[in-house]
Amino acid sequence: MTGRKRPHLVVLADAAALAHAAAKRISARLSQARARFAVCLTGGSTPERLYDLLASEVYRDALPWDRIHWFWGDDRFVPHDDPRSNFGSARRRLFDRVLVSSDNIHAIPTSAEDVEKAARLYEAELRRFYGADRLATGQPLFDIVLMGVGTDGHTASFFPGRAELEEKERWVVGVHEAGLEPFVPRVTLTFPTLASTREMLFLIDGVTKRSVLSRLLAGADLPAARAYSEGDLVWLVDREAAPEHHDGA
Ligand code: 6PG
Repeated sequence: MTGRKRPHLVVLADAAALAHAAAKRISARLSQARARFAVCLTGGSTPERLYDLLASEVYRDALPWDRIHWFWGDDRFVPHDDPRSNFGSARRRLFDRVLVSSDNIHAIPTSAEDVEKAARLYEAELRRFYGADRLATGQPLFDIVLMGVGTDGHTASFFPGRAELEEKERWVVGVHEAGLEPFVPRVTLTFPTLASTREMLFLIDGVTKRSVLSRLLAGADLPAARAYSEGDLVWLVDREAAPEHHDGA
């Protein structure tokens, strides 16, 4: 951890229990919120179980969908109907199965002419939603930011050793070359924007993540270790990904 608060690690029995724990945390935050509620989704495959759960009758009839606004922490610069699209994954598994107004769904515009233009457009959308051009401490943009970790230690679309890791001014940047599959350009919110949240929740499951998680817990300066949160920072990990000495919760 680079000089910031260490994550609160919660170990769950398996990926299903992890999805339930994430849904419960979102629901608990929602119950504390009065007005609109902003969730920033992660990409990749890990959140798919969570989407299926939120679309199930357990949550479909319980959440105040009209108050929740949905954003993405990053997306691949592909059409939304491309199987690699993070937006497309959430639409198939969640938004096509619950009643959400399209006004509440703020997708990264990957149909823009290039990643820079997409980043500029999304930055403008985030500022419009926030209501100011600068993020203020104590007035978080998001209520919950979901994050994942790649086996190389990347998070959102921050890959090891890349310049984007140092970006402090821009809210959204284009990434011309991904450092891990899928090797397509990306658009990503920057660390200060992702940090503007009441809770940052990492979802890390599966045996393929055990090695990178051990490296992170040992203090490796990987992009996922650079992520920070103005509010709570929680890592939900399942037993398969957790190093030996971390027993289950
Ligand atoms: C992306 C994600 C990325 C993801 C990790 C983990 O667009 O790929 O935002 O940061 O969270 O790569 O992906 P998996 O959940 O597929 O392991």
